[in-house]
Amino acid sequence: MCGIVGIVGNREVAPLLVDALKRLEYRGYDSAGVATVRDGKLDRRRAEGKLANLDRRLGEEPLAGHVGIGHTRWATHGAPTEANAHPHFCDGVAVVHNGIIENFAPLRTALIADGAVFHSQTDTEVVAQLLAACRKQGMAPREAMQQTLSRLEGAYALAVLFDDQPDMILGARSGPPLAVGHGQGEMFLGSDAIALAPFTDEITYLEDGDWVVITHDHHEIYDHSGQRVERKSQISQGAAYVVDKGNHRHFMEKEIYEQSEVVSHTLSHYIDFAEGRVKFDSAQIDFANLDRLAMSACGTAFYAGLIGKYWFERFARLPVEIDVASEFRYREIPLAGRMAALFISQSGETADTLASLRYCRDNGLTIGAVVNVRESTIARESDAVFPTLAGPEIGVASTKAFTCQLSVLAALALIAGRARGTLSDEDERRCVQALVEVPRLFNEILAAIQPQIETLSRELARFKDVLYLGRGTSFPLALEGALKLKEISYIHAEGYAAGELKHGPIALIDETMPVIVIAPHDRHFEKTVSNMQEVAARGGQIILVTDEKGAAATTLETMATIVLPVLDEIVAPILFALPVQLIAYHTAVFMGTDVDQPRNLAKSVTVE
Ligand code: F6R
Repeated sequence: MCGIVGIVGNREVAPLLVDALKRLEYRGYDSAGVATVRDGKLDRRRAEGKLANLDRRLGEEPLAGHVGIGHTRWATHGAPTEANAHPHFCDGVAVVHNGIIENFAPLRTALIADGAVFHSQTDTEVVAQLLAACRKQGMAPREAMQQTLSRLEGAYALAVLFDDQPDMILGARSGPPLAVGHGQGEMFLGSDAIALAPFTDEITYLEDGDWVVITHDHHEIYDHSGQRVERKSQISQGAAYVVDKGNHRHFMEKEIYEQSEVVSHTLSHYIDFAEGRVKFDSAQIDFANLDRLAMSACGTAFYAGLIGKYWFERFARLPVEIDVASEFRYREIPLAGRMAALFISQSGETADTLASLRYCRDNGLTIGAVVNVRESTIARESDAVFPTLAGPEIGVASTKAFTCQLSVLAALALIAGRARGTLSDEDERRCVQALVEVPRLFNEILAAIQPQIETLSRELARFKDVLYLGRGTSFPLALEGALKLKEISYIHAEGYAAGELKHGPIALIDETMPVIVIAPHDRHFEKTVSNMQEVAARGGQIILVTDEKGAAATTLETMATIVLPVLDEIVAPILFALPVQLIAYHTAVFMGTDVDQPRNLAKSVTVE
């Protein structure tokens, strides 16, 4: 959840470290720091809050040195104060850390008993203390690292600097990712390839349990037992992307507007536009011979999976077992018979999703992954990778990754339907034709609904609570709408299956609780209208998100009716995601919240 970077350079590294941290800020942004080694001395600058504060601090008090490490933090242990900000120092050792040291409490107690004095509340500081203790006992850096790692439990990525090693950084990975970047006479470490993109595109990913020594022109990787190992380097795509907002106010806005293009890229990976059919050879999973598909993910990716479940069951008659990954991994689901598993993740690093994947792999299932970062751990540990071609998603609230995930899941459900003989050629062609039109429709719908939603959001911003309702594939969209609104505007919002309304939430309905109903004119429409009647009868205000047919078919008075074109059922959830995203975005902008980096959140959740 934090971002780490290290540079053994041949120029001043503090500005370079900050540049890399800017590209990692999506991982955490409640404090930041950098440290360098120079003339046998460690020095650091740290600051609470956003990276801009550290940048300012460095402007006032520059930090010299050609070798350094940096960190942007998402607090787990201890408040986001300067004292808890990384790098942590102890007797000539500097450490930055991403993840959680689970046994930090007994380690800390033991170190204190041996006379150690701690200066922060973090779990990270035990690593610095352990390394320093090893050095005091006369161990060389490599030996100290090996010894220290053997005492750590949990998930972590580390970068370490020593005051007596002016040309060396050590790194380690157990869980969260860590990449080595190969430059010209310079070497780098980073949480991901995007952080290192300004410096190099040649990347070597450490595997779980690996640790590494980097110098100006050299790297050595060791596995958990201390054996020297070779890991292949690769050319990363991270460098190909320019990470800026263009002429948009926020990354989130830019990413909403990019959806036409990235969904088009993604679909072209799975669909033969000329033939009007799905690309059968992109299946990689033997759908024809499955009895069941297990699916798991977190947050927005989970909601994409929930929509996928409807599609797999409808078009491929394939039963889907789906749960949020934090529950899935501990449920001890019997995974027997002809089953495969599919995991969905933008980052490809989400700890719970990865643990669920490993649970399924240990039970012998074929593993598929719908991922946005192709070099990620989830991608690398899967048998079949189904990429979303969304490009880097920087806004913490997921938008374009979600619609790309939906595009992949829709195509896979059609591929599965074809493999299992449950989808006629005619239906396949109809669905593919509908998918082909999605990129154009994204632009048209955006232009049509954006001004209305901007105005509506001003009204919505007055409320403290909002309810979202939907049936069928609009139910997970209702969940996604509520998640999006709460995470960036901080308005309390809940999503419900419309049929659940009278089983409890109806008690909340009054004029202070607007109800956003997502209801294309599909086979559920009439039933959802009945639920809207129930809301209206209790003084609730309705915002109806529907299509032209739905708008014509309802006479109910609404606070607003947002009208999309009539869409095929397979593309409706992809395009109905747009009003859902825009409502959250404009409400948050109007309220003046930090849209791209909402409080308490982080983009990549590499801890449980
Ligand atoms: C919400 C959001 C999160 C992520 C979730 C999973 O807007 O972005 O709910 O969807 O943390 O992340 P990934 O997809 O990286 O596994």
